[in-house]
Amino acid sequence: MNRDVKLVVNGRESIVTTDENRPLLEVLREDLQLTGTKFGCGEGECGACTVLIDGHATRSCITAVSDAEGAEVQTIEGLAEDGQLHPLQQAFVDKQAMQCGYCIPGQIMAAKALLNQNPKPSRDEILDHMDGNICRCCGYPNILAAVEQAASVTS
Ligand code: FES
Repeated sequence: MNRDVKLVVNGRESIVTTDENRPLLEVLREDLQLTGTKFGCGEGECGACTVLIDGHATRSCITAVSDAEGAEVQTIEGLAEDGQLHPLQQAFVDKQAMQCGYCIPGQIMAAKALLNQNPKPSRDEILDHMDGNICRCCGYPNILAAVEQAASVTS
């Protein structure tokens, strides 16, 4: 049954009338037009749909929109400030850490969650944390280099 669901996404409040069990990913993309977050597997396995909920990496394809109520949701669109790329975004550009680019919003948001909790991660900690974010182009070395660069400038 539809009801009003209040969301705060990238600091902006929205009320969406929807089935509360609908995936957050669908609401972000279809109702709020935040299409940076991608649909990959739809089963919580690939990480393409990763967003932050209260700073924690969350698979939005398997998260009911009602579970995001009362929380701060951050998507890739919420990272840049005042026209300046976030250091993570800049690092992904600098290190050419994308080929097709489809997984990159999820990779960046997963990395953001890591740096929120651990601003100076070791290489092993980065690899461990990013393990669930799949890149079908296998651009993992450049993704790792980008996260290391961002960690070096944000910490
Ligand atoms: Fe959500 Fe793959 S689309 S984890």
